[in-house]
Amino acid sequence: MSELVRRPDDDSNTHCTPQQYEEMYRRSVEEPDAFWAEQAQRIDWIKMPTKIADWSFDPVDIKWFADGELNICHNAVDRHVEAGRGGDVALIFEPDDPAGDVRRITYAELQRETARMANALKKLGVAKGDRVTIYMPMVPEGAMAMLACARIGAVHSVIFGGFSPEAIAGRIEDCASDWVVTADEGLRGGKPIPLKANVDAALDKVSAKGVLVLRHTGGEVAMHEGRDHWYHEFAADLSEECPCEPMKAEDPLFILYTSGSTGKPKGVLHTTGGYAVWTETTFRYVFDYRPGEIYWCTADIGWVTGHSYIVYGPLLNGATALMFEGVPNWPDASRFWQVCDKHRVNIFYTAPTAIRALMREGKGPVEKHNLSTLRLLGSVGEPINPEAWRWYHDTVGGGRIPIVDTWWQTETGGVMITTLPHAHDMKPGSAGKPFFGIRPQLVDSEGEVLEGASEGNLCITHSWPGQARTVYGDHERFVQTYFSTYRGKYFTGDGCRRDADGYYWITGRVDDVINVSGHRMGTAEVESALVLHGKVSEAAVVGYPHDIKGQGIYCYVTLNSGIEPSAELEDELRKWVRKEIGPIATPDHLHFTPALPKTRSGKIMRRILRKIAENDYGALGDTSTLADPGVAEDLIEGRRNR
Ligand code: WTA
Repeated sequence: MSELVRRPDDDSNTHCTPQQYEEMYRRSVEEPDAFWAEQAQRIDWIKMPTKIADWSFDPVDIKWFADGELNICHNAVDRHVEAGRGGDVALIFEPDDPAGDVRRITYAELQRETARMANALKKLGVAKGDRVTIYMPMVPEGAMAMLACARIGAVHSVIFGGFSPEAIAGRIEDCASDWVVTADEGLRGGKPIPLKANVDAALDKVSAKGVLVLRHTGGEVAMHEGRDHWYHEFAADLSEECPCEPMKAEDPLFILYTSGSTGKPKGVLHTTGGYAVWTETTFRYVFDYRPGEIYWCTADIGWVTGHSYIVYGPLLNGATALMFEGVPNWPDASRFWQVCDKHRVNIFYTAPTAIRALMREGKGPVEKHNLSTLRLLGSVGEPINPEAWRWYHDTVGGGRIPIVDTWWQTETGGVMITTLPHAHDMKPGSAGKPFFGIRPQLVDSEGEVLEGASEGNLCITHSWPGQARTVYGDHERFVQTYFSTYRGKYFTGDGCRRDADGYYWITGRVDDVINVSGHRMGTAEVESALVLHGKVSEAAVVGYPHDIKGQGIYCYVTLNSGIEPSAELEDELRKWVRKEIGPIATPDHLHFTPALPKTRSGKIMRRILRKIAENDYGALGDTSTLADPGVAEDLIEGRRNR
């Protein structure tokens, strides 16, 4: 039996009461055009759209607000200044070092700095439609670079600072991006991250016409004459005014690479109008944001959560968002709570992996700080186990405030399933109810639709404004990946249970994607990295339950003949994967094996490998189709001995 946690009463001007949710949800699915035309009123359009929803999932062609024109940077920045709110703080920067300088950037300053950066991009030669790669630390200039692109109609492709030079090169090449914005170094937990050096190494493999470099730590970097420019010098005498380019609603806004079950990461493409309406609306209702509040999302701008809920969603709402450069456990495990206390944070949004890690440290670090300003907590990125939910609710939230467990994906642009703070009771471990306009459907593996309380694969049957429109440069891959498993439906890749009250419980990925500390990782990517190594003949990678990370990376590796397994080789392969993909892909377990379990037709039986990695030998299921059943026995033996 799941537990029900009653929504706390709130009689201030909450955006959504229980009755309003019911009424608005009903309208959003029965009259989507009228509903979304109304939500879109909160956006400043250069040309008001008359067409609202215009989409098909078979063939796949998705448009929203198609004849509208707008600029999202104008909406996120300039219009607040024009409305007399230029003195309001847009971004608070809390540096990695607790003793470092806090910066408070008002909307007026954000407008000036974004315009200056937009002029710098233009001076480099960036034009409307060009792709700009952003590889930045968690500093306000990272957000400014995104907004500067949007201002001039360039398409940003942000790469998380934890990715390797190889990963950067692959992404630059895939979207033919001629321009890079980076910094000398990033800082995390007191350690410098060599951002510029990584870009240099990437640009040994692929070329770029220009690189803007922010001076952040002051660390030594090499500058390539003619290609690299220090931002502070390059932009010193540039104007702080730059007009916002009028964009069609369906003009691309950004590309964000994300892992899937096969092949290289995909460049998921989001467009301007629908994404603006979707992030504005979801931020407003999910976080129930109230003017003057301090909102903190601990994600990185390199992930979709940072795009939608550090940059676009909050700024479109004129909110004050905190940007934190550091990590939860440095200098000690009270860092998050110290920052909440210091900045009087009202809304705090983080990932279950961080909650689990901090829960281990007990109440002490939390109780050292005054968290009385907190009004709402959020969770995102992976399923939150009820125990961690409880701790978050009772210890961090003092048992008095709601939690929103927001389920969504890079491809969905914003939150899809969640409870709303004062509209729904909560069930620890359940994301909750569909957001406005979202029509989830559970299907079994044959595609039969499941009704009522049931468990199956999660699909969405109708488009929503923030939906990704395509995979950059490969629409066929978009169709294949998301709309072909269950024709005419968007398939999320997640398993899900719906209970008798209509609450949704995400059970995790049902494809070959694993979720490591809230980061999406394709097992195929790790496998290709491993087999690139000269001593590896074959590799199969699966996820297994991990106390802190949610899932860990378990690699079965077959070596070339004549090569003997050793602790040194294990270490070498770990380093190799870090070099190829980045530290987030570091294998947790390397299991050397003379052979992998295969069917007679040569297909690797991943189900068996998953079970063995999970230490679940009783449930191996049918192994009779294995070409050599002895392989499974040997693997179990190997696992037991670890
Ligand atoms: C998982 C992150 C359970 C899910 C915004 C999804 C979640 C993948 C939740 C997308 C949640 C995200 N509960 N699972 N609240 N939020 N997921 O693209 O498996 O990095 O498919 O987007 O994370 O990860 P992505």
